[in-house]
Formats: sequence, structure tokens, C-alpha cells
Amino acid sequence: MESGTRLTRMLGIRYPLIAAPMFLVSNADMMVEVGEAGALGAMPALNLRSTDEFRETVREIKRRTNAPFGVNLILLNNPRIEDDLKVCLEEQVPLIITSLGNPTELIAAAHGKGVRVFCDVINLKHAQKAHAAGADALIAVSAGAGGHAGPVSPFVLIPWLSAELKTPVVAAGGIANGANVAAALALGADAAYLGTRFIASQEAPVEEAFKLAICQASPEDLEFTPEVTGHHANFLKESLEKFRAAKREGGTEIKRWRDVWSAGQTVGLITQVKPCREIVADLMSEYHAARASLPAF
Ligand SMILES: Cc1cc2nc3c(=O)[nH]c(=O)nc-3n(C[C@H](O)[C@H](O)[C@H](O)COP(=O)(O)O)c2cc1C
Repeated sequence: MESGTRLTRMLGIRYPLIAAPMFLVSNADMMVEVGEAGALGAMPALNLRSTDEFRETVREIKRRTNAPFGVNLILLNNPRIEDDLKVCLEEQVPLIITSLGNPTELIAAAHGKGVRVFCDVINLKHAQKAHAAGADALIAVSAGAGGHAGPVSPFVLIPWLSAELKTPVVAAGGIANGANVAAALALGADAAYLGTRFIASQEAPVEEAFKLAICQASPEDLEFTPEVTGHHANFLKESLEKFRAAKREGGTEIKRWRDVWSAGQTVGLITQVKPCREIVADLMSEYHAARASLPAF
């Protein structure tokens, strides 16, 4: 059997695992720790307050590790897109991940500089457009994912996109343990993309209460609503209620994403805050155990 997947070979990583970019969560420490553990970390450029700070952070990550990492650029309503893209290309970041919007021009510019681009998609129509624009892989964002999730079950979305487009697919949504990773690869994915699992990491720079909420919540504690950002996303209900109350009262300042906590249905599977390196190591030992535990017929 061939070792690895198309994406582990393309990206030069040991394991088919990507710590997904998360607004106000992903930071340089996570990129370094996840990368050193053999997976790939990705972070939104907008987690830094300015393009200059973003450039400094890219340089810091490169100083601290030789492992590849990714940068997420949001294409829609993002006044920094051109400047942040310029930094990615000048600094030769190994991977750009686009979300929300048309990636055609960005892919052409990135490929001109030898930078790979993966695109978030939630259905075949989006996937066809990103594929036609030259995306190196499609990130299939399924129902139940943290952040802006799609409506389609991963059991359908992953094999559907793989079969229709014959291009590498990254499975996003519903993945927090090694059995989930094995399932995603069995469905045809070339890598697994995990967000919520990495919020409950020691390195994530979020309030301890947010990490604790993830370890204690069940999927019923989430609400899938467009009211925070204009696009459907999953949020922990309790923080959503505070957001609603603040809006009604018009007084206290509540910030989207910082105070309204987004998470995916994997909250039901996460019980412990762990260092990023341990999360990656556990995912891979659970992956092997899950494969070995499949029944023979
Ligand atoms: C708190 C939070 C913030 C997120 N911010 C972004 C973002 O800025 N850009 C993006 O492309 N995806 C963002 N996402 C989505 C993740 O990249 C990823 O698709 C998702 O977390 C996968 O589902 P999971 O959380 O169930 O593992 C965010 C998700 C969460 C939970």
C-alpha cells in the first residue's frame, strides 16, 4: 500500500491532519507545535491587527520551525485582502486557504509564485468553481462544523466531491478523534481539518471558560444561525443568549467571535484540554486503533 495521502505528499507533512484556521483562536504557538508534531497548522491573517504584524508573525513561525503552515485569507468584505496576499506571496507561505468568495484571481496570483491554494466549499457548485479556478484541494465543510458550516452530512459531502471532481478533498466538520480521521479517509478524504478540537488546546489564546465550555458542552448546546455574521455558523447557545441580550439592551459591548463562542458538534467528543502535540499524537494512535478494531467479514 502507498504510504500517506496525496495531501501529505503535496504538503510534505507526516500525518493527514490540519489544525483549521480559527478567527481569534489560532496563533503562532499553535502553528509551531502542530507543525513540529507532524501535522499542519493554519491561521487567519486577520488574527493579527495589521498587515505588518501579520508579516512579522509569518517570519516568527518560519524562524521557529521548518514545518509547513497555512494562512487563511477571507475573500469577502476584507479590506486587507490585497496587502495580506502580497505578504503571503513575498514570504512564500507554503499554503493559502481561502474562504467566502471567488478565489479565481487569488489562485492565479499564488500559483504564479508557486504557492498552493485550498478552498473552503460546502456543496458541489462551489467545489466545481474552485476546482475550475485551479484549487489544489477542496475543503469540504460539512454539517456540524465549527464556524461557518455547510448543510450536507460529511458521509455524503466527502465521497460526493471526491467522485465528481477527482481532486484532493479535505474533510472539515465532525472530526475530533482518530476514529473520525479514519472515517474521513475511508470516505475518500486526503486529510482531516479540525477546528474545535484545537480550541481546547493549551496553546489556544482564548479564555479558559471557552475551553471549559467546549469540554462540557454537548451538540444540543449549539445553535446554527446566521444572526451573528450574516452566514450560518454554529455557536454555543449560552454565549449567543448574552449576545442577544446585549443587542436588545444596546449597552454592554459584545464582540462577535470573541464573546459569542463558535464551536462544532465535536464538543460532544472533547473532554480535556491538551497540548497541541498531544492532540496530534493521540489522534494518530486512536487512528491506528480504530483501523485495527474494524471487524472482518
Ligand atoms: C471559533 C472558530 C473560528 C473560526 N474562524 C474561521 C476563520 O476565520 N476562517 C475560516 O476559514 N474558518 C474559520 N472557522 C472554521 C474552521 O476553519 C473549520 O472549518 C471548522 O472549525 C471545522 O469544524 P470543527 O470545528 O467541527 O472541527 C472557525 C471555526 C471556529 C470554531
